[in-house]
Amino acid sequence: MCIVERNCDIFFRLYFAVSDQHLADGEVKKQKIPLNIDTNMLKIGFLGGGKMAQALAKGFIRAGLSKGEMILASCLPNDTGSIETFKEMGSNTVFTNVPVIDHGDVLILSVKPQVVPKVLSEFRVHDNKKLLLSIAMGTSLTSLEKALPKETPVIRVMPNTPALVGCGATVFARGKYANDKDAEIAEKLFSSVGICEEVPENFIDPVTALAASGPAYIYMVIEAMADGGVKMGLTRPIAYKLAAQTVLGAGTMVRETNLHPGQLKDDVTSPAGSTITAIHQLEKHGLRSALINAIEAATLRCREVSSQANKN
Ligand SMILES: NC(=O)c1ccc[n+]([C@@H]2O[C@H](COP(=O)([O-])OP(=O)(O)OC[C@H]3O[C@@H](n4cnc5c(N)ncnc54)[C@H](OP(=O)(O)O)[C@@H]3O)[C@@H](O)[C@H]2O)c1
Repeated sequence: MCIVERNCDIFFRLYFAVSDQHLADGEVKKQKIPLNIDTNMLKIGFLGGGKMAQALAKGFIRAGLSKGEMILASCLPNDTGSIETFKEMGSNTVFTNVPVIDHGDVLILSVKPQVVPKVLSEFRVHDNKKLLLSIAMGTSLTSLEKALPKETPVIRVMPNTPALVGCGATVFARGKYANDKDAEIAEKLFSSVGICEEVPENFIDPVTALAASGPAYIYMVIEAMADGGVKMGLTRPIAYKLAAQTVLGAGTMVRETNLHPGQLKDDVTSPAGSTITAIHQLEKHGLRSALINAIEAATLRCREVSSQANKN
């Protein structure tokens, strides 16, 4: 179900911080102290305020999980477009990451993979009570945990940009210090902007190839279908509108009916009709193979980037 239709309920979580308990024999033992964080409205810190951060911030605000003024994002001084977008949402931006780390109940690591090590190096020992949700492609949970203060709860999340319109497709995998409550927060946030599922970490690369890159493939399909319509006499506006609505409708049919896509295709393919004639052309030109190859290639590229990112 698309999130636009969803009612966002309120949730609370017990957040645990580690503190020192001084024992009679002079030994110092770490203990977990419950801190009550009202996650009715979350203070969210975006480390990196680019496209994805903006899409998520807008989605979280629209879903009622945060407010513009409760969001702080770090942007580079020359990134005036992003700074302006956050301003329009009522959110502040800063040029450095430490104020963001201090601000958020939940931190979202949303910089490009090559900038991740620099941002992680800005965390201090006591920052380990903050839940970090990393949307950065390629950086593994182990690498994130190694670079962060000890026992930082980390969750790796792979969203996609339709989160902006409440129809995102997100998966997440939790690190070894993230508990059920942390997973609940990730699930709640990302379900507020679409569907969200927990998966094993080794699913993340193929999910990136399918769902995070996927909108780009579908935009190409929409553009090409519209071009076909224009070639056959439709105007541009009606062609784009119909192509986009057809993709939306077909996706909704697959989700809502639970029928196999092959069955749905058979249902609209009459003998000697125009649809089967078109399908024959698509098969001749390798539509299925092209998509399978694309997702395979994108997964391999993700693995390549991951192995570079996680070398040290
Ligand atoms: N776009 C997607 O569909 C998508 C989907 C899933 C996951 N992701 C992941 O999400 C992350 C962000 O992607 P994006 O598409 O949002 O990229 P983006 O638009 O380039 O956003 C990254 C932002 O971080 C800023 N930045 C660079 N260095 C920084 C620093 N030291 N401190 C703070 N901010 C810094 C960049 O500023 P400048 O532009 O000025 O360098 C940029 O605004 C990536 O790791 C990507 O793999 C993206």
